Amino acid sequence: MSKEIIKLDNIDVTFRQKKREITAVKDVSIHINQGDIYGIVGYSGAGKSTLVRVINLLQVPTAGTITIDDDVIFDQGKVTLSPAQLREKRRDIGMIFQHFNLMAQMTAAENVAFALKHSGLSKEEKAEKVNRLLELVGLADRAENYPAQLSGGQKQRVAIARALANDPKILISDESTSALDPRTTKQILALLQELNEKLGLTIVLITHEMQIVKDIANRVAVMQDGRLIEEGSVLEIFSHPKEELTQDFIKTATGIDEALVKIYQQGIVQNLPENSLLVQLKYSGASTDTAIVNDLYKFYQVSSNILYGNIEILDHTPVGEMVLILSGEPGNIHRALEAVTEAHVEVTILKGEQPC
Ligand SMILES: Nc1ncnc2c1ncn2[C@@H]1O[C@H](COP(=O)(O)OP(=O)(O)O)[C@@H](O)[C@H]1O
Ligand SMILES: [Mg+2]
Repeated sequence: MSKEIIKLDNIDVTFRQKKREITAVKDVSIHINQGDIYGIVGYSGAGKSTLVRVINLLQVPTAGTITIDDDVIFDQGKVTLSPAQLREKRRDIGMIFQHFNLMAQMTAAENVAFALKHSGLSKEEKAEKVNRLLELVGLADRAENYPAQLSGGQKQRVAIARALANDPKILISDESTSALDPRTTKQILALLQELNEKLGLTIVLITHEMQIVKDIANRVAVMQDGRLIEEGSVLEIFSHPKEELTQDFIKTATGIDEALVKIYQQGIVQNLPENSLLVQLKYSGASTDTAIVNDLYKFYQVSSNILYGNIEILDHTPVGEMVLILSGEPGNIHRALEAVTEAHVEVTILKGEQPC
């Protein structure tokens, strides 16, 4: 079993302003395994940025316990490290942001080298390391360019190289692709995934887009109004979301909602023929290997008219969704649906009388 490299327990963060108090994070506990790509999703204002700033104590919480790599760094309302120890600890945690935060008057190489200021490396060692880092993020040929001469994706690569300068164990990405177009987003996500695999880097990925979690994360937490409302493996959450907000997020990432709108407009669905049923099937892992549609006909003489079908790979496991019209003898449809349910396919009847 993997070790828990980040442990946040019962974290509260309250901001006191003149007249009012805002509790941005309420009793949140999250444990993140070494090597995870851990997604934290939620709408703007949910408390995501505040929560991740707690990990390196950029934001000191009001209450709770923070344990990083087996060291308790905050407990019972106090930072438990000396300032020197805290500086050391922070080197283990790199961070990247939506707006890159590069220094405009410095070249790409200088921006990366800046993070090595207190590394104790010689000038030559630093130069060598900067080259290696820029190569790692695919920007070796841009070392002498200034941020203004780089595209958004290239700027984020410089920021990633800088965040990795002190060989951190953890990389926090706070909306790091939110300012990028979809194609560049994919490229940056691919780079993060590669760094996770190559360096064993633990990545905490904050985003308001479930699509991003779906693309590269293995676990996910959903936040709303400062609280963690749901947490689990990407596979669990995508196949069995419990909370309404989670379901909303997932719909935006799978496209089934849009498909359903079109499906309901079709004549055949509006006037569903006799002995027919509109159903949605969801299946994952091994169930995607079975020829469901084929078996429905072969064993139950139930014919299927497929209106929508989609298979995604989530954390290396296939997950499928289908919307179909089943037609056949009511008794046969009933038995067929029992059989697919038994094969761990989730059945939802969208329209029509369920035969019994
Ligand atoms: N420094 C601060 N002072 C006061 N309120 C803050 C501060 N930082 C964040 N907040 C408030 O805390 C809540 C959560 O903000 P944030 O963590 O930035 O959410 P998210 O990253 O999910 O958009 C918001 O209501 C925000 O206005
Ligand atoms: Mg934020």
